[in-house]
Amino acid sequence: MKKVINKRFFIAFEGNEGCGKTTQIKLFTNYLKERQIDYLLTREPGGTEIGEEVRKILLDPKNKGMFPETEAYLYASSRAQLVREVIRPALELGKLVITDRYVDSSLIYQGIGRDLQVNIVRKLNEFAIDGLLPHICFVILVKPEIGLERAKKESIKSGFQNGDRLENEKLDFHNKIYDGFKALGHYRKNIYFINGERSPKEVFSEIRAIFDKNYGSI
Ligand code: TYD
Repeated sequence: MKKVINKRFFIAFEGNEGCGKTTQIKLFTNYLKERQIDYLLTREPGGTEIGEEVRKILLDPKNKGMFPETEAYLYASSRAQLVREVIRPALELGKLVITDRYVDSSLIYQGIGRDLQVNIVRKLNEFAIDGLLPHICFVILVKPEIGLERAKKESIKSGFQNGDRLENEKLDFHNKIYDGFKALGHYRKNIYFINGERSPKEVFSEIRAIFDKNYGSI
């Protein structure tokens, strides 16, 4: 039997609606299992009992009256809990931690999508993340028209018949998110842009190569 590998490493997966993040995370965790790498997978908003409660408020289509500032604080509050309860303790145990979305989603969705400004949202999140940033961040992108079609199908499966609150935003909002993510390199280091319009297999082989290179080098 191969030896279980323990190494402190933190990865975030980001991207626009329907970019294929979930499929890629599945392929990635299968790969980690094959390599006997000890990992923990979590997601935002949510990932803790308290965070999952916050998630319900955030995604519920009935909360149409939510102000952008309220939204930004709620995402940050879920994150503050996740960092302290889950991510940091797991890293301290020498695990590889993967999160399905993290602070960059806030920079783009709230900072750009909701026009709160990236620097303001970044500042607000400093307290939440307490200096904890991923070693690498994959940003998977697909054109909004393609992504929204894919995301609607998934949402119906998970109980929001007509899409969740964020998916229900107009195409204009989703175009802003797409362009915002493309500009993320201006604000953050260690970002890898991945074209999500290819087959899942092709996308994954690029992700795996980037991971192998980075994980091997620390
Ligand atoms: P989710 O169903 O997890 O969507 P996805 O599969 O696209 O990750 O819903 C999360 C939604 O919340 C998604 O529309 C992106 C949005 N979001 C923000 O607006 N800000 C944030 O900080 C985070 C983490 C997510």
